[in-house]
Amino acid sequence: MDIEFFNKAAAALPDSFFEKPVEIGVVLGSGWGAALKPDRVLARVSYADIPGLGATAVQGHAGELSLCEFAGKRVACFAGRRHWYEGVGWEAVCVAPEFLRRMGAPKMLLTNAVGGINPMLRPGDLVIISDHINTVGINPLIGPNRPEWGERFPDMSEVYSRRMRQLLHETANACGIEVGEGVYAFTSGPVFETPAEIRAYRAMGGDVVGMSTVPEALFGRACGLEVAAVSMVSNLAAGISRDPIRHVDVLQATRSAMGQMGKLLNGFLERV
Ligand code: HPA
Repeated sequence: MDIEFFNKAAAALPDSFFEKPVEIGVVLGSGWGAALKPDRVLARVSYADIPGLGATAVQGHAGELSLCEFAGKRVACFAGRRHWYEGVGWEAVCVAPEFLRRMGAPKMLLTNAVGGINPMLRPGDLVIISDHINTVGINPLIGPNRPEWGERFPDMSEVYSRRMRQLLHETANACGIEVGEGVYAFTSGPVFETPAEIRAYRAMGGDVVGMSTVPEALFGRACGLEVAAVSMVSNLAAGISRDPIRHVDVLQATRSAMGQMGKLLNGFLERV
């Protein structure tokens, strides 16, 4: 990845983002922007005003970075993300972990919508990601190694922090929300999968499938961030559902699950 991209992008943020270390960053996928209820918003910037990032092109994906306060903690909230399938390069995809690293944030929480592969899952279910399978075979760290981005061969044996997963479970219990745990299979998109692909991912150990999160998680982890991720099952994966998969249904499911996701995220930010 090109460091100049990040230098130019970071220069567009108000100074307040860098004045004091941010405690955690949250990336809100697929329309989750409204789920967070901060006590205060200290600064905000539209993605359209960040060079190289631009307005997110996918319907339902807002694009705004805000610096917020939750229970006295400084939290950077990324409402919307760029995806590998948009063809915008890894830099735009990895902007959240790289900005968080520059803001001195030790932690990052990622959210997304997924297709459910595990037959126990139903639309609307929340799943804490325990691990991932990168079916794409490429990742943002391919290229020259920069020491600030971690070692040449970063360990990935615990991408999703055991401690933060535990805290998510505790939060869910306290809020009376049911959550599962599962393995995320990352695909490039923008096509949804074929039934044969879904059978293969199931055989590999995948519980849910999606087109985001893994690049940010593995890059952030390599940089030393403590990472957690929560998925909302927006649909049953191809072949598990008899119905065709449609983006409008993904957005509808996101809206329906907003209350549950909001409770979990706000509760987590109080505790973390
Ligand atoms: N597949 C891939 N990505 C997704 C899906 C799916 O079924 N649903 C939401 N994001």
